[in-house]
Amino acid sequence: MKVSADAEKLRAQGEDVVDFGAGEPDFPTPDNIKRAAVRALDQNFTKYTAAGGTAELKLAVCESHAKDFGTSYSPSECIITVGGKHVIFNLMQALVNPGDEVVIPVPYWVTYKDVVNYAGGKCIFVETDERKGFAVTAAMIEPHLTARTRMVIVNSPSNPSGAVVDRAEFEKIYQLAAARGIYLMTDECYCKFLYDSEPFSIASLPGSKETVLVAGSLSKTYAMTGWRIGFGLVPAPIVTAMTKLQSHSTSNPNSIAQKAAVEALRGPQESVTAMLAEYRKRRDFVIRRLRSIPGVTCAEPRGAFYAYPNVGVAIGKNGIANTTQLAERLLADQRLAVVPGEAFGTNHHVRISYAASMKDLERGLDRLHEFVVKNS
Ligand SMILES: Cc1ncc(COP(=O)(O)O)c(C=O)c1O
Repeated sequence: MKVSADAEKLRAQGEDVVDFGAGEPDFPTPDNIKRAAVRALDQNFTKYTAAGGTAELKLAVCESHAKDFGTSYSPSECIITVGGKHVIFNLMQALVNPGDEVVIPVPYWVTYKDVVNYAGGKCIFVETDERKGFAVTAAMIEPHLTARTRMVIVNSPSNPSGAVVDRAEFEKIYQLAAARGIYLMTDECYCKFLYDSEPFSIASLPGSKETVLVAGSLSKTYAMTGWRIGFGLVPAPIVTAMTKLQSHSTSNPNSIAQKAAVEALRGPQESVTAMLAEYRKRRDFVIRRLRSIPGVTCAEPRGAFYAYPNVGVAIGKNGIANTTQLAERLLADQRLAVVPGEAFGTNHHVRISYAASMKDLERGLDRLHEFVVKNS
């Protein structure tokens, strides 16, 4: 968000900035969803709802999760939140006590670290293997589990790397955690955006509902980032704890957005398929272009809409000491915004969001190419 704000400042000064920083779809919210919001307004659905979300939306979430993944949640195991961030924040507040350890694979989505720290927990970072696409495995996690481990977080497909944990490996991670009574939080924010495998949820595994915590969001799937609707599918006592917290902090998520979310989940799903097809085209283009830059390598993103190239070739050159400085220079010299890898826990990468038009992808990658050649 800081990168986007800096880019916006330059743009306001009339500069031609290409922005690969934003982690959100560049598509508009589909019309059927917008129309549902208008209907909600016309029907004066503009008052408080239950703090944990409407019964209608909870049911729609459970039904769509069952339809997509074969899970069997009931509304008492569902909470509606103010976006995916909110469900993750409330989960940490409800479950993580001071000193508890939370295992987080690297590179990680920035928010995990901060919400764990805010709850007084201790982040235990697990390195992954760039040559294997950054996908975390049970074998990587196991040595980091201790008597204090409260939770393991898996985000597949991953922000920032696009790494995907395949079903068999995910099951191993689940077995490892469940055998020790450790919660497994699966962040399914990008679950529909997979390029070479079928969507699945680890929560569909029989018996897994006791320790698996599903963090979901409509933000990316339905291009609804501004509407702020997320959800949790978790054991009922945890829903109760999170609802208490929510009831005294944010109260209910926006009533109009909840109606729109029901339509998103129950209405036609063609827009999701269309977005995925477009992201795939862009991904193929971006990877090809990144790999053609001398010295730059890039693990294949198998999901989400990010590439995480290794630009180490330009670190330590021309006064660029790290990727934060590289991103600053890239913005200053080439008017290209990317997110430095240090934000995600690695030292030689930048995150590129390809939720941008083909024209901008072409222009931005030309700029990155030129920059790396000049600075390596
Ligand atoms: C991995 C991951 N999880 C969750 C979220 C939360 O999204 P939101 O709060 O917009 O629903 C994001 C957003 O960038 C994300 O990248």
